[in-house]
Amino acid sequence: MKETVLKGFEKVFHTTDGVKCYFAPGRVNLIGEHTDYNGGHVFPCALTIGTYAAVKERDDMKVRFYSMNFENAGVIEADLKKDIEPSNEWKWAAYPLGIVWTFEKRGKKLPHGFDMVIAGNIPNGSGLSSSASLEVLTGYMLNDIYGFDFTNEDLALIGQYSENNFNGMNCGIMDQFASAMGKKDNAIFLDTATLNFEYAPIKLDGAKIVVTNSLVKHSLVTSAYNDRRKESTEALEALKKVIDIKTLGDLNEEEFEAHKDAIRDEIARKRGKHAVYENRRTIKAVEALKNNDLKTFGELMNASHVSLRDDYETSCPECDVLAETAWTVPGVIGSRITGGGFGGCTVSIVKDEAIDNFKETLTKVYSEKVGKTPEFYVVEIGDGPYKL
Ligand code: GLA
Repeated sequence: MKETVLKGFEKVFHTTDGVKCYFAPGRVNLIGEHTDYNGGHVFPCALTIGTYAAVKERDDMKVRFYSMNFENAGVIEADLKKDIEPSNEWKWAAYPLGIVWTFEKRGKKLPHGFDMVIAGNIPNGSGLSSSASLEVLTGYMLNDIYGFDFTNEDLALIGQYSENNFNGMNCGIMDQFASAMGKKDNAIFLDTATLNFEYAPIKLDGAKIVVTNSLVKHSLVTSAYNDRRKESTEALEALKKVIDIKTLGDLNEEEFEAHKDAIRDEIARKRGKHAVYENRRTIKAVEALKNNDLKTFGELMNASHVSLRDDYETSCPECDVLAETAWTVPGVIGSRITGGGFGGCTVSIVKDEAIDNFKETLTKVYSEKVGKTPEFYVVEIGDGPYKL
């Protein structure tokens, strides 16, 4: 991929002199979905796929961006002398520009511009965080080129701030944190209320993580996501009137059941239930993993899917077909929709000897019921961002 992005740079900007290359990973979340803006826990890992950049500094104040994944968008140019503001005109370049904008807000003004070509091997719209990887990539690159001293954890927060305020997506911290803090062969058990975290080695003896792409891209993801956020805040506000809590992550299942009637609105009650139970499932899943109890881990993954399907309503019929079919395949330890939802991918843990049958069965059932052939990626857990 380094070769690819360098060639792309040469083609578009006609040189490779002084060009530096960087990488930042995408992520898959094993369990703990829609808990990160509810003060709960998440358990994602960085992948070995992600986004690559080739970058060269400029003498003037221009910044120019080109994506090999969106070649039709051409070269997108901005002028650092003028105020950069959020706008549709930036197209995909709103992600790296948002990071430049956030760096400036945090007192790091760029002394001069740069040209940047990117190429990613995360399937677009698959829910594997191509946008977070691009944000972390840009932050990491700016830090290196201009000698700023943000930590990787800062870069995660900068990415989230930018996505919330420049791109209008009210996301939590999970994706950027997973990309910036990734560690090979480890998942990250992160408490989003405090940002305390620990690495948990993923030793799946005789099994693999298989990501299945439904190939469904929902255009309403941002607005539906922001709605879920509002609905779970409504649940929290109602509960706060009867119990002293700061976030839904402060509650266990029993406490929720004892106080849930305070949430009058039925939809908000379902959203609140998911946030509380999913957080507890995540804590239990990490515990199970530590005890080498993969069976329990898988059951919790399945329960997570059911809750996302029925209570949080961020699944979609296509991903339901994928997860529900996976549950019937012998050798599947667990399977659930992963990421923001409304399309994208499922994540499954599948025994090595069952992978072929898993792919065949899902392909057959999905083609019959949905009329499409899903894509499969047997993924590996990789490191956070680095210079190539
Ligand atoms: C998206 C968001 C994350 C998180 C997940 C759902 O990926 O960017 O912050 O909320 O959805 O778990």
